[in-house]
Amino acid sequence: MLKPSYPYYLAGRPVAANTDLEVTDKYTGEVATRVAVADSAAIEQGIAAAADSADAMRRMPPYQRREILDHCVGRFRERFDELAMSLCIEAGKPIKDSRGEVTRLIDTFRIAAEESVRMTGEVMNLEISPRARGYRGMWKRVPIGPCSFISPFNFPLNLAAHKIAPAIAVGCPFVLKPASRTPIGALMIGEILAETDLPAGAFSILPCSRDGADLFTTDDRLKLLSFTGSPDVGWRLKSKAGKKKVVLELGGNAACIVDQDSDLNDVVERLVIGAFYQSGQSCIGVQRIIVHESIYEVLRDRLVAATKRLVAGDPKDEDTFVGPMISESEAARLDGWIQTAVAAGGKLLCGGGRTGSMLEATLLEDVPAQQDICTQEAFGPVAVLSRFSSFDEALDRVNDSVFGLQAGIFTRDLYKMQKAWDELDVGGVVVGDIPSWRVDNMPYGGVKDSGLGREGIRFAMEDMTEIRNLVIRTPL
Ligand code: SIN
Repeated sequence: MLKPSYPYYLAGRPVAANTDLEVTDKYTGEVATRVAVADSAAIEQGIAAAADSADAMRRMPPYQRREILDHCVGRFRERFDELAMSLCIEAGKPIKDSRGEVTRLIDTFRIAAEESVRMTGEVMNLEISPRARGYRGMWKRVPIGPCSFISPFNFPLNLAAHKIAPAIAVGCPFVLKPASRTPIGALMIGEILAETDLPAGAFSILPCSRDGADLFTTDDRLKLLSFTGSPDVGWRLKSKAGKKKVVLELGGNAACIVDQDSDLNDVVERLVIGAFYQSGQSCIGVQRIIVHESIYEVLRDRLVAATKRLVAGDPKDEDTFVGPMISESEAARLDGWIQTAVAAGGKLLCGGGRTGSMLEATLLEDVPAQQDICTQEAFGPVAVLSRFSSFDEALDRVNDSVFGLQAGIFTRDLYKMQKAWDELDVGGVVVGDIPSWRVDNMPYGGVKDSGLGREGIRFAMEDMTEIRNLVIRTPL
């Protein structure tokens, strides 16, 4: 299904470079395809082209931006199966989850198409004191200019789309570096963008080595850096980003509270998805499950039984729920955390086995709170259960983290919902479901070490614009 090789896109055109990168099938480990790699000269040209096309992008009328985004939606629909299979191969994402991601890719571009013709400003009465008599004002949003995007391996299509689509919607040219382990999704988006009337130079999609990637962060012609990936890398890039605006979508160790009034069948079904979909490789995958003591044993036993039923194996099989992690080294890292947690007194409820990059869906309890598996981002198919007796204690436990992306709460009590919304130090609270729930128009992002700024098309569009004010004086 994949082509033997993929070019990169420089200033909107495909380029087959001399140096290439092998992209493996993450389940078989075999080389699935090759991708052209951009060197620093190509990245420099991409940035220069983005800077040169900034005026053309800024002047492009909204209806044309909308047509471009609509074209992408149509082509994604036509190429749905090919896009899903490419994710399945390059990311090892189970085919059902891969189809889900393509559906979300379509949503993301569809929302951007709608928002592109909707961006408004405000008329303000400025006569707030005698000295402002006769003045009125209005403001509008103007594109910030060339943007730099770095996208992660876990959603190769949709998390690239969350940067590309709002940039087109507001009229910002961009350069994007996709994750080296999963560059195909972004390059397929590039292939489709190259069919449109975007101004020459408006986009470059450049797989490259980490060294070459420095320009994405440091070049002053780029006015915004939007990075999705690991917290360590994200905060390091911010310190090198100079004067540009920085948006960081980083990690988390998402918690889910299960209160005593919950429907346990529903909760078990949702927790299994939240903890183990795409092998837990989501920033909002369920990692900490905090359960009311009165239902703890029943919930635990049902959850363990449901987890043991999950089918693991080849992500191309329709029945597979748990596929490989992105690499053997990542699986070995998490395997090590599990073993250390067990050696420290944690109890393994199920899973814990590993073959290469395939780590079993794993549940633990009684793990000492300072263990990495509780405090760091696991980013794999592991969750830790603990009990609570009072709701306030559960909220404190959620907040006892360096991260703050999303939290889930199963409760039917309106007052507890409100308290959670008020007190939890996170970017989003999901009531009646897992923290892993996301739809692509909602504000999404974190606080504390989880990042800065929000995605979700409208919110990303705000970041990619500046407010330009107009003051009008009417002589009295
Ligand atoms: C992420 O891993 O940050 C993205 C999760 C999602 O889009 O569902």
